[in-house]
Amino acid sequence: FDVNNIINLFDVEKLATERMTPMAYEYVASGAADEFTLRWNRQALDTLRLNTRVLVDVSQIDTRVSLLGLDLAYPILIAPTAYHKTMHPEGELATARGAGAAEALYVVSSFTNTPLRDIASVATQPLWFQLYVSDDRERTKALVQEAEAQGCRALCVTVDTPVAGVRNRQQRVNFAMPEGITTPHMADAFALTKSLTWTDVDWLQSFAKIPVLLKGILNPDDAEIAVKAGVCGIVVSNHGGRNLDTVPATIEALPRIAERVNKRVPILMDGGIRRGTDVVKAIALGANAVLVGKPICFGLACGGADGVAKVLTILRTELELAMALTGKATLADIDESVIWR
Ligand code: FNR
Repeated sequence: FDVNNIINLFDVEKLATERMTPMAYEYVASGAADEFTLRWNRQALDTLRLNTRVLVDVSQIDTRVSLLGLDLAYPILIAPTAYHKTMHPEGELATARGAGAAEALYVVSSFTNTPLRDIASVATQPLWFQLYVSDDRERTKALVQEAEAQGCRALCVTVDTPVAGVRNRQQRVNFAMPEGITTPHMADAFALTKSLTWTDVDWLQSFAKIPVLLKGILNPDDAEIAVKAGVCGIVVSNHGGRNLDTVPATIEALPRIAERVNKRVPILMDGGIRRGTDVVKAIALGANAVLVGKPICFGLACGGADGVAKVLTILRTELELAMALTGKATLADIDESVIWR
């Protein structure tokens, strides 16, 4: 497969449909229930118009951002997504190599099919670890310690999944892990804990040696509690429209949360980011950086590490173009005024 056939992040999905099993494709592409939120994530971004400035020197576009002590080349991270071996035989190793080639930070899912140790051994860019807390809190503690031992630079605790959403498309294809593919850090018949509360956030922070972020915040009141609880960052996310259908698009929730957080901690956002202009819009409305989920899975399915790197490079290049064309040479220059009101 020639990754140069991937022209943008929508094309990569089409190309991937021919290269994935129907089961893997449905697993990645589907949203919860009637997929309203899945569509809204995109539609709400599309509806926002950009307000440009001209005659600005954009000869030096600077996309660098500093996040929790890390200097990133550009503000686009690989979102945690599970089961990469269902998408490509090299699984998470290919994802990590693609992240390395594209200078991107990779957030490894708790449901990785590859042991964290092996991912860490090929990674050349920083890794974060996405944590699902299990009923067995001692097991969770051991997993956090393993993530730290493997050099993960932050813990991204997913808080929007006490139960999985209604996944009708996955039901139709009887989604199941193919023979021989395992999740080494999660028990087979793993049930996500339904009893995760703010007490657990305190407990995690009591022993975690790396910064803790909460992923899956949509309500400003929760953002406020999170900041007061001392977390180091917030990820505004609706799980890519996969959990509770009819919650709002993340780009709609973002400005309310940014207002409440008022720069006390960094804010990340994901859900429907497919174009460089989407990244500009998210930053304008209060995000320090964004994450991308499904297109990475599709890039992985098409071309392994090269496919992952290609997806990231396209989005990075589009971001640079969008900054030049809106008259914003640095990320700090991107503020609310870039949104047409
Ligand atoms: C996810 N997501 C996710 N989130 C998480 O915290 N832990 C996980 O294991 C997974 N697994 C997962 C698998 C697949 C196939 C997808 C598509 C998504 C959610 C993910 O981190 C992110 O929030 C969304 O994917 C972002 O939206 P887009 O970019 O896919 O539109």
